[in-house]
Formats: sequence, C-alpha cells, structure tokens
Amino acid sequence: MALLFLILLPLFGVGESQPSNPLNQTDLQVAMDDMRTSFYYGFVILLKILNSAPNSLHEGQITFLMPNDEELSKVALKLDNLQDFILSHSIPSELLLSHLLHFPNGTLVPSSVPNKMLRITNSGRLGLFVNNARVVTPNVCLNSLITCHGISTSMTFDSADSYPIKSSFVHVKRRPALH
Ligand SMILES: *[C@@H]1O[C@H](CO)[C@@H](O)[C@H](O)[C@H]1NC(C)=O
Ligand SMILES: *[C@@H]1O[C@H](CO)[C@@H](O)[C@H](O)[C@H]1NC(C)=O
Repeated sequence: MALLFLILLPLFGVGESQPSNPLNQTDLQVAMDDMRTSFYYGFVILLKILNSAPNSLHEGQITFLMPNDEELSKVALKLDNLQDFILSHSIPSELLLSHLLHFPNGTLVPSSVPNKMLRITNSGRLGLFVNNARVVTPNVCLNSLITCHGISTSMTFDSADSYPIKSSFVHVKRRPALH
C-alpha cells in the first residue's frame, strides 16, 4: 500500500482577518515572461484575465502548474470558474522540481483551493505526476519568486482526496475544543 503523507504547507491568508495583498505584480510579470518563453501562452492569458479582477491572486509563495495551450483549449472554462481553475492549478508554496522529487511517494499537498488536494506520485521512468497530470516541463519560471511547471493535461480531482474546507481546519488548531 502506498504510504500516504499529508503535508500541511502554509496557506496564505488562512485564519488572518486582515485582507491579503495582491500578488507581487513585478514577480507576476517576470513569471509570465518566463511562461511565454516556454510557449505557455494560454496560461498567461488566463492569468492576465484573472489578475485584472481585484483580490483574485494573493501575495505569498506560489507554484503554478500549467497545461499547454492545446490542453487548455479542451477545458470547459467560464469566467465564473476561472479563479477556481487557476488556483486549483497552483500550490501555495514555492516548489521546484527538486522539492517535488523529495516528497515521499503519494504525498498530498493542498492546492490553492482549500478543499482540493494534489497528490504527488513518483512513477520512476514514467515521470512525476501531480494528480493525473505528468510534469513535462519543470522549472519554467526561474526569474522571480513565482515557480511554475508545465504539465501534460489539466488537473482532475479525486473527491476522496478533498479536504474539509479551509476554515474548519484552521479553527480546529486555533480554538479550544467546544464543550
Ligand atoms: C515585488 O518583488 C520585487 C522583486 O522580487 C521587489 O523588488 C519588490 O519590492 C516587491 N514589491 C512588493 C510590493 O513587495
Ligand atoms: C509510487 O506509487 C505508485 C502508485 O501509488 C507506484 O506505481 C509507483 O511505482 C511508486 N513509485 C515508487 C518510486 O515507488
């Protein structure tokens, strides 16, 4: 049976009452330049649309997982679910390929969407998978604090891996037990 680890990465904004600041725009522009250099044009366009909406990308470490343009064109996307799509394709932590490779096989990491978890599977020669998607172009973003990797397809989520919503898991730690 695969060993299952749950890594609790710092989730930005969690449990904080003050509104979080937007993602550093300098870093974002540099990261988008890196993405363009590796032909992830569609993902850049989606990021620009999302970034134009206030309060949609928050400051803090982030790793984007980017399907290529052909894969993105297959996704049923609406403006309503753009934020969910982008955030579920990101991890609120700076994870280079070397970090991902050091996770125990089967590690679950939170995506930037509170109840969506990502499972890191090391399939040896077949490659490193995040959920159903293989990391095909690692470390695309290297010139800013934002990290990003190209993945083989858009992510699907196993409902068994979902986690109780953010607020409940934060409150368990912060509040004394109710009697
Ligand atoms: C954004 O990031 C750049 C480069 O990493 C840094 O020089 C700048 O101070 C940051 N801006 C803010 C508002 O944190
Ligand atoms: C990781 O787990 C998957 C299935 O859970 C298995 O197919 C794979 O061989 C494992 N990788 C290693 C390096 O043990």
